[in-house]
Order: sequence, then structure tokens, then C-alpha cells
Amino acid sequence: MDLMSPIGSSGSLAANADTQPMTLLSILLSFLPIPQPPSAAMAPTAAEYVAKHEIPVSEVKLDSRAARPQIVGPDTPEAPFPIALDGPVQKGFGRGSKDLGCPTANLPDESITPISSVAKTGVYYGYAQVIPPAEHPEGFSLEDLKVLPMVMSLGWNPFYKNEKLTAEIHIIHEFGRDFYGYEMRAIVLGYIRPELDYISREALIEDIEVDKCVALNCLERLGYKLYAKDSHFRLGASETKSNM
Ligand SMILES: Cc1cc2nc3c(=O)[nH]c(=O)nc-3n(C[C@H](O)[C@H](O)[C@H](O)COP(=O)(O)O)c2cc1C
Repeated sequence: MDLMSPIGSSGSLAANADTQPMTLLSILLSFLPIPQPPSAAMAPTAAEYVAKHEIPVSEVKLDSRAARPQIVGPDTPEAPFPIALDGPVQKGFGRGSKDLGCPTANLPDESITPISSVAKTGVYYGYAQVIPPAEHPEGFSLEDLKVLPMVMSLGWNPFYKNEKLTAEIHIIHEFGRDFYGYEMRAIVLGYIRPELDYISREALIEDIEVDKCVALNCLERLGYKLYAKDSHFRLGASETKSNM
């Protein structure tokens, strides 16, 4: 019996009589929701962990060299993406540049709610842009101010055992200077992988390098490229959608 259509196409229970006798129990069962296996989409959001004062338990990655897919996700962003974020860049613990060779820009708590309230912890990709105040653009090149590809970690950094939820964005670009305090705008377009614990710092660095390649490959798809021209960003005349 097809649990999705408890009543025959004629609308009559009797329509099933020639295929299978219907008992009262089977009729009742047919109206119960079908149990679904737990899926990634059903994982608690980062904000749900915060509300419960819990920190998700992360898997330890033992084999840092295990092959990973070089491109992930659908051909166009699917809900809950795209997710727009913005806020002033804050200092983290400084481990991104010191330990990992991967400087990250942290956003304040209120700026990460749009993603933490709808998404689970993990590593994400999208675009970001640094916007210095018009009167203080010193030290930035034109390249530094463009909309650039980014990878983002949302969670508790299990390798470092953080006690607070953070969102750290690494813009895939060599900046001429730091941009603490300046506004950053971002659009998150897809999920790459869960946050993991690692047996060594080198293993974490290796995975971050793969994340960057995966992000660049993912953003090459037309359905994602378009978002570099989104009105959430501050675009020059040469960067608007009509000039793609
Ligand atoms: C692309 C990317 C992937 C990351 N993946 C993990 C991870 O799997 N596990 C983890 O503990 N931290 C992960 N991190 C977070 C880094 O540990 C964190 O950004 C770094 O410690 C800098 O944090 P800080 O600015 O607060 O010092 C990742 C960061 C980035 C940018």
C-alpha cells in the first residue's frame, strides 16, 4: 500500500480492495507522518546550540589526506542561501594569520544572526567585500576593495575548543593592509563541510587549503557568479550586472 496516498484515486477506501485488504490498523497507520532519516537539513542550527548552552561535538579527522570532492552542492544556490551578512570587522584570537597562514575577519554577534539562525555550524563559501570609510581609503588597492571570493567558518572551532560561537571569514586575496573596524559585507552561497577537530594543526591547514579550492570551483558556476554583482555590495560602474 502506498502510504502517501491512503485513499484510492477515486477518493474511496474501497478502491484499494482489489489490491490489498485494508484493516483498521493500516488505515490509521496511513495517516501517521512517515518517519524520515535524520538529514543534514534537520541538523540543529548554530543558534539552537547557543540557546541550549551546548557546543556541538565534532568528529576528529584522522586522515588529513583523505580525498575530498573538489566541487559541492547544486548548480544554483538553494535555501537557506543566499544569506547576506554585514558588520564591522572585529579581532579574533589572531590564530588565523599566526597559526594557520589564513587571516580571518570576525563579525560581531548581531551580524551573524542571519546565518546562525538558519544554518548549522560548518564551513561555507560565498563572496565578501571590505568597505573602508570614504575619507580613509589609505593603503587599499583597487583590488582590495572588489567583491572577492571567501570561505567562512561558523561554529566553535573544535580544534581550538572555543567557548563562543563565531563566524570567521577568510577572503581569498592578499590584502595590502589589515581592515579591523572597517565594514565588511558578505553573501554566503553554499555549505562545504562540517567543522572538524584535527590530530594536528597541519591537518587543519591542509583542509582549509582544500576549502579554498572547493570555494573557487563552486563560485565558477554561473548561478553563483551572479552574486558578485549583487546590490548588497558596493559596486563600481564597471561591476554592475549589466556589464557581466
Ligand atoms: C575555511 C575555514 C575552515 C575552517 N575549518 C575549521 C575546522 O574544521 N575546525 C576548526 O576547529 N576550525 C576551523 N576553522 C577556524 C579556524 O580555526 C579559525 O578561523 C582560526 O582559529 C582563527 O580564529 P581567530 O581569528 O579567532 O584566531 C576554519 C577556518 C576557515 C577560514
